[in-house]
Amino acid sequence: MSNQPCHIAIIMDGNGRWAESKGENRTFGHERGAEVVRTITTYCANHSDIHRLTLYAFSTENWKRPKLEVEFLMKLLERYLKNEKITYLSGNIRFEPIGDLSIFSKSLRKVIDDIQNATAACTGLLQSLALNYGGRDEIVRAANALRDSGALTVESVGKALDCQHDVDLLIRTGGDHRLSNFLLWQAAYAELFFTNTLWPEFSVDELEAIIKKFKTVERRFGGLN
Ligand code: FPP
Repeated sequence: MSNQPCHIAIIMDGNGRWAESKGENRTFGHERGAEVVRTITTYCANHSDIHRLTLYAFSTENWKRPKLEVEFLMKLLERYLKNEKITYLSGNIRFEPIGDLSIFSKSLRKVIDDIQNATAACTGLLQSLALNYGGRDEIVRAANALRDSGALTVESVGKALDCQHDVDLLIRTGGDHRLSNFLLWQAAYAELFFTNTLWPEFSVDELEAIIKKFKTVERRFGGLN
């Protein structure tokens, strides 16, 4: 029997380098990156064995970037969520953000709420965008929420997290081999795949090749077979 990657998570790295290699501003790479988000989400929505797709769109550390780039990313996100409503609804895709949204502008939070409410009844793929997300921050927020509820367990902490589902397959584009504070708890037994491909050039063909390889891996979860 082969593994199914029910929950795929992706660190979408390399937008800036891709743009710069073309003599363009980094924002051009983010713009192209957003198109790849749509392509990969639609592919996953069309494959019923993939139930969840979690994408690292903005980390708790990304605020350190130049102000103009941060502002561009906020606007791009807002525009994407507004424009892609039709993609979500026609693909039966439910949207659910993870991360601490309290820091975002009122208008961005409204757009996030709108798309979350509009897709709440969708029964296909669950697409999560990690927004102002950090794995450590998520665990600390969960621990604080449980502060008065006695001894913690793996189950109780897991249920208090933004993302309550283990990751099966975690992919990072852009050539680096690290988790960068993404889904630290949920990736405990994920299979990790790293590719040098920059996110704007990541394709359905490459995702299919990774999934094919994933299906051949023996996952033991600490057991013997
Ligand atoms: C990393 O590339 C990418 C990000 C920090 C942002 C990810 C954003 C997108 C894929 C586009 C917007 C997403 C949505 C959902 C609208 P980088 O900028 O670190 O690239 P580099 O490593 O080449 O500098």
